[in-house]
Amino acid sequence: MKICLAPMDGVTDCAYRILCKKIFEQHGAPDDELMLWTEFMSADGYVHNPPGVIKHIQRSDYDHETIAQIFWWNTDTLISCILDIEKKYDFAGIELNMGCPSPKIMKCAAGSGMLKDKQKTLDILKEIAGKISTPFSLKTRIGLSQDDIQEQFDFLIQASKYVTTIWVHGRTYKQSHAGEVRRDFIYDLKKELPETIIIGNGGLRTYQDGLDKSGNLDGIMPAQWAIGNPRILTPHTPSPAEVYETIIYHLSLMTACELQFKQAVASYDHSIWLKQPTLAQLEDTTQQIRSWALDVSQAHSPIEFRKYLFRYLLGLPNSKDLKKKIPQARDYASLVGILEEFFEGMGTQI
Ligand SMILES: Cc1cc2nc3c(=O)[nH]c(=O)nc-3n(C[C@H](O)[C@H](O)[C@H](O)COP(=O)(O)O)c2cc1C
Repeated sequence: MKICLAPMDGVTDCAYRILCKKIFEQHGAPDDELMLWTEFMSADGYVHNPPGVIKHIQRSDYDHETIAQIFWWNTDTLISCILDIEKKYDFAGIELNMGCPSPKIMKCAAGSGMLKDKQKTLDILKEIAGKISTPFSLKTRIGLSQDDIQEQFDFLIQASKYVTTIWVHGRTYKQSHAGEVRRDFIYDLKKELPETIIIGNGGLRTYQDGLDKSGNLDGIMPAQWAIGNPRILTPHTPSPAEVYETIIYHLSLMTACELQFKQAVASYDHSIWLKQPTLAQLEDTTQQIRSWALDVSQAHSPIEFRKYLFRYLLGLPNSKDLKKKIPQARDYASLVGILEEFFEGMGTQI
């Protein structure tokens, strides 16, 4: 079964993918295979102002099964972005996002906006498929609205000629990220396209929930419930000590990735490529951060980390006071301090 950590802007960065892969390697079910994504990146940004977006494709040698996801609407820009990424970075696949509901992205006919003129989008897919050598996939929705569902189904049958894999979020653009997930659409699509890898996405809350709803599909793809919850990728239930270790490792690794990227982008030249880190380099920096050998008081990661942290703490008893203190802990040392205090207070060996 393919276990897919869904692409999420601001979430599935290099540090989170590494962490998820480590947990998957330790606790994943033997027959499962992990798949990872970058956060989506604007192809237009990559072509015209790379330093503004290139952090989205930061990747280490360890999370090498990562697929790079991009969005845009213009064929030439998409193709020049894809060819450049292919030439410079060794991603396991390149994927076109055709499901993002953001009004800003819709307005320029990218993301879900690509579903408005489906013939034009088929032409774009065909042109890209003719030029790309890396496996090419698409991630989309079941349509723009209820009225569009049949047309979208027919469109995906046509689109399957140009891609290896289709990831389907079982909601319409109008539903955005909430509401009923139409799994029947995705199961029917797989019946029609037995040769194409089809993965369902939407509303999966636990690993078991994913298995229960996998039906005839090739895998599962949790998203919102995977934020600060890497255990969703495995059947394992972590102890409080494991949760603590995961939090501190993730926070330190995220800070290490921030430092590596700042250095890499300072010497970045678009005609060459972004210097990518190795896991060994990142873990060396992570260790230095954890042993207080590096001054990371100016790093922004501890603030960014909050979106994961509140999720990590879900279900832990008596975490109300800790949650109140988190907004005041604006740097690495303060955040680690309140976390140590909380977990020690729970009697956790740390
Ligand atoms: C914070 C956030 C960021 C997201 N960013 C992306 C993205 O970059 N690319 C993408 O294809 N989908 C993105 N999505 C959509 C998810 O991949 C997924 O399709 C959607 O959340 C439905 O799954 P869920 O119900 O399990 O959350 C994002 C969702 C969230 C919540």
